[in-house]
Amino acid sequence: MAYNSKEKETPNWKKDFPVKKDEATHVSRREFAKFLCLLSGGMALGNGIIAIKSFAFPSKELEGEHFICNTSDVAIGQTKEFIIEGEKNIPYLLIHLSEGKWRAFEQKCTHLSCAVRYNAEINKIECPCHKGFFDADTGTVLAGPPPRPLPQLSVHIKNEKVYVSAYKESKTIS
Ligand code: FES
Repeated sequence: MAYNSKEKETPNWKKDFPVKKDEATHVSRREFAKFLCLLSGGMALGNGIIAIKSFAFPSKELEGEHFICNTSDVAIGQTKEFIIEGEKNIPYLLIHLSEGKWRAFEQKCTHLSCAVRYNAEINKIECPCHKGFFDADTGTVLAGPPPRPLPQLSVHIKNEKVYVSAYKESKTIS
């Protein structure tokens, strides 16, 4: 009987799964394209779910008035970042535009949620991520990719203190 040393050395699991190492690590163009299709399909599905969720369950309006700071804490041209406890930790930006004129906007850009900031030199709110610009008075989009204005809050000054509440156009102090 002839002795076959190669057959003797090959373990059983290799006989059951006869895949060569270089074949196992090779990814064909077709497999890669399939992977990309699945990945982009998954991302599209995720975006669709987020869009449906935001239409089906719109965020609840802010209730009541909330104290933010004293008027002396934020000089003209300066800003203060704040969140309101229990409001899903949405970051807001309080802006002291001019004497007696205050604004408060969500700090998340309506494009891809980067943090916006107020640029006092040009009196605009800007998003550093993709050069989006918003009107510092109204929050409307002036330039760049943001699709919607910045959501804003109404600002009230009482006894040298700054309060915010859900946005009502008539309540905004100008
Ligand atoms: S995230 Fe603000 S412009 Fe893109």
